[in-house]
Amino acid sequence: MFILLMGPPGAGKGTQAAQLVEKFHIPHISTGDMFRAAVKEGTELGKQAKACMDAGQLVPDSVTIGIVKERLAKEDCKKGFILDGFPRTTIQAEALDRTLAELAIKLDRVVNITAPSSELVGRMTGRRICRGCGATYHVAFNAPQKSGVCDKCGGELYQRDDDTEETVVNRLSVYQVQTQPLIEYYQDKGLYTEINGLQPIDAVLKDIINSLRGGQ
Ligand code: AP5
Ligand code: ZN
Repeated sequence: MFILLMGPPGAGKGTQAAQLVEKFHIPHISTGDMFRAAVKEGTELGKQAKACMDAGQLVPDSVTIGIVKERLAKEDCKKGFILDGFPRTTIQAEALDRTLAELAIKLDRVVNITAPSSELVGRMTGRRICRGCGATYHVAFNAPQKSGVCDKCGGELYQRDDDTEETVVNRLSVYQVQTQPLIEYYQDKGLYTEINGLQPIDAVLKDIINSLRGGQ
């Protein structure tokens, strides 16, 4: 199953991808996670990405396209993947089409999780992530049993540097200008499904799975 997961920042892409990975046993490829890993490692890519991410801007297309192309060519992507947070510009979408054609891969579905900006700001500023296993929580909507501690591995929970209110507002406006046009791009290809991301996490997952089974 080759799935493209779209949606504005904070819509729940990472949360849903984690569940889809367990169900379908295919890799979760998140450009945001790849950039955060590079920042942690202190590589040149990480330095460049951090400046863009902290400002709520996109990392340049040429850099992003390069890392995705390399990742999709790996063996574990042959049977499927969940691509999360890429493409985010028309240039990236066109590059993805070329890469998939070279790899003889056809996307099964483009799933767009939607929610209004008023909801998304609160989701991102309240998000907490585990340093140990990367699990995502929310202080109000998806709280761990013990505050600040991961239920799954006991790791410490932290807040992302780009989850401050100021950066979140920038990220949402970048999304509207640069990424929203991709909705039409994928509608035109007949691959597009919109999912109401305002529902509880389990209901969102159910709708996504239905859409992958050929529902609309
Ligand atoms: P990235 O990491 O991709 O961030 P994003 O798209 O802004 O998405 P988020 O990770 O913030 O949100 P999400 O939709 O995964 O939500 P989550 O499941 O965590 O990108 C970060 C940066 O990297 C970008 O700004 C850019 O600089 C750079 N970058 C990445 N890709 C790029 C690209 N292709 N090109 C250029 N630059 C790129 O959920 C959010 C919170 O809500 C959590 O706390 C969760 O518990 C909670 N929650 C989830 N679902 C629900 C629900 N249904 N109800 C209530 N709460 C919920
Ligand atoms: Zn953990």
